[in-house]
Amino acid sequence: MGNKKRDINGPLIVVSNRLPFVLSKNSDGELVRKQSAGGLVTAVAPVVVECKGTWIGWSGSFDLKPGDPIPESDPEDKAPTAGLKSNQIIPVHIDKSEFEEFYNGCCNGTFWPLFHSMPDRANFVSKDWKTYCRVNDKFADCTLDALRNVIKTLDEAGNHDTVPLVWIHDYQLLTTATKIRQVCEEENLRCKLGFFLHIPFPSWDIMRLLPWDDQVLQGMLAYDFAAFHIEDYCLNFIDCCCRRLGCRVDRTNMLVELAGRTIQVKALPIGIPFERFVQLSEKAPTFLNMPDDVKVILGVDRLDYTKGLVHRILAFEKFLEKYPDFHEKVVLLQISVPSRTDVKEYKQLKDETELLIGRINGRFSKPNWSPIRYIYGCLSQEQLAALYRDCAVALVTPLRDGMNLVAKEFVACQIRTPGVLILSPFAGAGGTMHEALLVNPYELDEMANVLNRALKMPLDERELRMTQLRHREQLLDVNYWMTSFFSSMGALKDEDEGPPKT
Ligand code: G6P
Repeated sequence: MGNKKRDINGPLIVVSNRLPFVLSKNSDGELVRKQSAGGLVTAVAPVVVECKGTWIGWSGSFDLKPGDPIPESDPEDKAPTAGLKSNQIIPVHIDKSEFEEFYNGCCNGTFWPLFHSMPDRANFVSKDWKTYCRVNDKFADCTLDALRNVIKTLDEAGNHDTVPLVWIHDYQLLTTATKIRQVCEEENLRCKLGFFLHIPFPSWDIMRLLPWDDQVLQGMLAYDFAAFHIEDYCLNFIDCCCRRLGCRVDRTNMLVELAGRTIQVKALPIGIPFERFVQLSEKAPTFLNMPDDVKVILGVDRLDYTKGLVHRILAFEKFLEKYPDFHEKVVLLQISVPSRTDVKEYKQLKDETELLIGRINGRFSKPNWSPIRYIYGCLSQEQLAALYRDCAVALVTPLRDGMNLVAKEFVACQIRTPGVLILSPFAGAGGTMHEALLVNPYELDEMANVLNRALKMPLDERELRMTQLRHREQLLDVNYWMTSFFSSMGALKDEDEGPPKT
């Protein structure tokens, strides 16, 4: 099996914008940990626990002040981060005004829309960019402190050949490695620097719109290894390095050379904790109470303009117009998880979505049926697993998405009568989940037709498609992804066995 556990051959330092839990005050004014449930945390936290590694990140609230002790986890805690001791956590302190310019401004007002190829939504504000670089340097300073400690411990134990591994994540930290690399060279600190981008990497046409594209590319080339979800993003990155910085590149072997250093680039599609979702769906009580003859079409997304929610709802309206036999026989259940609520684009999307749903429900509802049910809020993992298990169709139709884990979580939870996955080709997942019904989210008529096809699909075809989809996600789960990352960096103790056959 490709996803069996492997040990890494050096101390591990993980750096991400958010720590694997939020630290905030409870009603008694005590700082407590609130767990995050994402796949990255589920996979990586146990490894950090086991190898006594370090996790560096922002605490997720302004309640934690510099010098405050990090609370230990609750002894009853069963979360994957429960074993992380407070001395393994290094919080990066970001104050409110920095946060506004770094997170709302540059991360989510510039990089997020630009990297999702939506340049019209991107703002280029040099103050925000400066703060972004300053905050990235703070992450670098914390990482360097951790690195010095780790190297000291290794040297004291005579392990002079052991090289620490620093794994930095995502678009919030594109320039963090610049300072790490520079100081490591000055102080002769040894480490391997690896990076994973969780969102798309855009084409040169888009990237060149960024006034600071050269500094971003140089930052990303300060790594030894940079990985992306799919080959297209890798090739875009390599192309940008070639055209903007004049780097020598090898597209076949995915190598980029800058100032005598060679950076390895690789496509490593992320997976999910498959077995965990299976277990959740096995034990989750029914959450949907629908009459037997009503089918549920499910949408689950962070409320983000990249997810194509407005297009999806308009396509559902078309479907109701074109296929009236389905009135009172289907419900679109849309779960929208609040996200980045201080950013203007996100506030506008909330209003637009609510208005649209109100209009469509007003147009089609009967006394005992409304076509759209809408939840703006967070559901527990167990509730989500029950919905994924019991719905007839999952509509995953982003306009652009790095990977999209909802598509994968849905198939993992389909342990009873199989339903159908409708997927956008503009999600990274669209490149591998071939047995889904792929549909262009901009073609509303086509989306309506595909919905009709999904709802009428015979059981044997649904079974065939779902079996293959589940098989692939089970093999290429998040542990496989993580092991592949370490293996590509030469950071595994065992030999790599190569990819499993799907
Ligand atoms: C995406 C990004 C992550 C980010 C998450 C939630 O998946 O790739 O880095 O953490 O969205 O967004 P937030 O802004 O709440 O961290």
